Amino acid sequence: MSIPVNSSYSIKRRLSLQLVGSAAILATILFVLVLNFAAQVSEQSQDNILTASVTSILDSASIRGGEVSVDIPYAALSMLGNVSDDRVFYRISADDIFLTGYADLPEVKQQNRPDESAGVRSFITAPYKDDTIRMVSATRQLSVGGEPVNIGVSVAQTRNGQASTLARISRTAIILGLGFFVISAALAIFAAQTSVRPLSRLAVSVSRRGPKDLRPVQSPVPTEMVPLVKSLNSFIARLKTSLTRSEDFIAEAAHRVRTPLATVRVQAEIVMRRVEKPQNRKALKEMIRTIDESSRAAGQLLDHAMVTFRTDHLERKSFELADLVADSVERMAPLAELRDIKIDMLSKDRGQISGDQILIQSAVHNILDNAIKYSPPEQVITVIVQRERQGDLKGITVQIADRGQGFNKNDSARLTERFIRGDNAADTVGSGLGLTIAKEVMQAHGGDLTLNNQQYGEGACVSLYFPF
Ligand SMILES: Nc1ncnc2c1ncn2[C@@H]1O[C@H](COP(=O)(O)OP(=O)(O)O)[C@@H](O)[C@H]1O
Ligand SMILES: [Mg+2]
Repeated sequence: MSIPVNSSYSIKRRLSLQLVGSAAILATILFVLVLNFAAQVSEQSQDNILTASVTSILDSASIRGGEVSVDIPYAALSMLGNVSDDRVFYRISADDIFLTGYADLPEVKQQNRPDESAGVRSFITAPYKDDTIRMVSATRQLSVGGEPVNIGVSVAQTRNGQASTLARISRTAIILGLGFFVISAALAIFAAQTSVRPLSRLAVSVSRRGPKDLRPVQSPVPTEMVPLVKSLNSFIARLKTSLTRSEDFIAEAAHRVRTPLATVRVQAEIVMRRVEKPQNRKALKEMIRTIDESSRAAGQLLDHAMVTFRTDHLERKSFELADLVADSVERMAPLAELRDIKIDMLSKDRGQISGDQILIQSAVHNILDNAIKYSPPEQVITVIVQRERQGDLKGITVQIADRGQGFNKNDSARLTERFIRGDNAADTVGSGLGLTIAKEVMQAHGGDLTLNNQQYGEGACVSLYFPF
């Protein structure tokens, strides 16, 4: 029987999701960083070329005949063309008076204005002619007739080449990010699986144990699982103690109940020998019968408790069924002799079965006890052990047949229930637990108990079937 367990979430799934989520975030960060870096680098390289261009134009500025003259070197603009097909614009001015180039190029704002004394360059990105341009401006001071003149040069270039480079890089960055994500996700799932593996290993090792295996878990476990295994071990230890205690209790209780009853019975018998009045003798007889009944009932109740307990923790061992039955027959022979009943045992086949010998002995004992009780005196009880097939299953059966009244067809279905006795049981001592015990033992061993009447002649025939 497995009791359903509430599970709130799966560690493996949660861990995988968290790790895969982190991998996705990291992949996105990686993508953004790569893209930013690429944008910076490409802007930087454009700036460098623009600066070189501006510098070489400024360098070519000179004073000729008291006039500012600027010869734009061929290389100054061609170096920009080399890099991409972007359009190039320039403007040259002297003391803010436009000299040549594109007059409408954006003005460098005040705060961006190059520091005139130091010739510092300024960089701006601005819209121009339905496009975006990057522009570098710088100044140089020349002196015309002792008067300082500030030559300003701006060179600008559209950014289409840069944009397409960036698009290319972003495609690569996406592939890179995706690749990174896929590899990290696979690693994350693998990591999640490995981290919960010790848990499933522990579960398997505990569930594979036999019902009587109450050893503590000793195989090494990860540190995080130590508290769990510790409490599991202490639980196993407590269970073991309580099981041993109840086993002891059953034995002790059986002893304590039966012994005083036996004493009372002996006393009653002694008294009976001295009593002569038929009335008193009758009362004493009744008393002895009741004592017998109580003693048997107590015994059977405890037997039943023992059977329930042992079938819950079935301890299987391999043994020869015919030997066990022969042993039971031998033990019951004195009881049978009291009624001049003979038990004939015929072991047609031998066969090893695996099971709890004490339980099977108790089942056979109860069936034999019934056969003796319900059979008329001076009769024979036949016990046969033989191999049998039930469909595809091979097994071995113990058949116990007597020459009594047999089972009453009407109530035989209920006779295996607790405390249920048949109509024929009125004059016999009993508590209605014998067949219950036998049935439970057979069920625990995967076997079967069948109640039949003899095909030929009178009497009950009870079969205990054990599959191999
Ligand atoms: N060999 C048998 N012959 C006839 N009836 C039987 C036989 N064995 C069992 N029974 C019937 O089955 C009933 C239940 O048996 P059991 O559980 O052993 O209880 P008890 O023997 O204490 O009455 C008995 O009361 C009896 O009616
Ligand atoms: Mg009985």
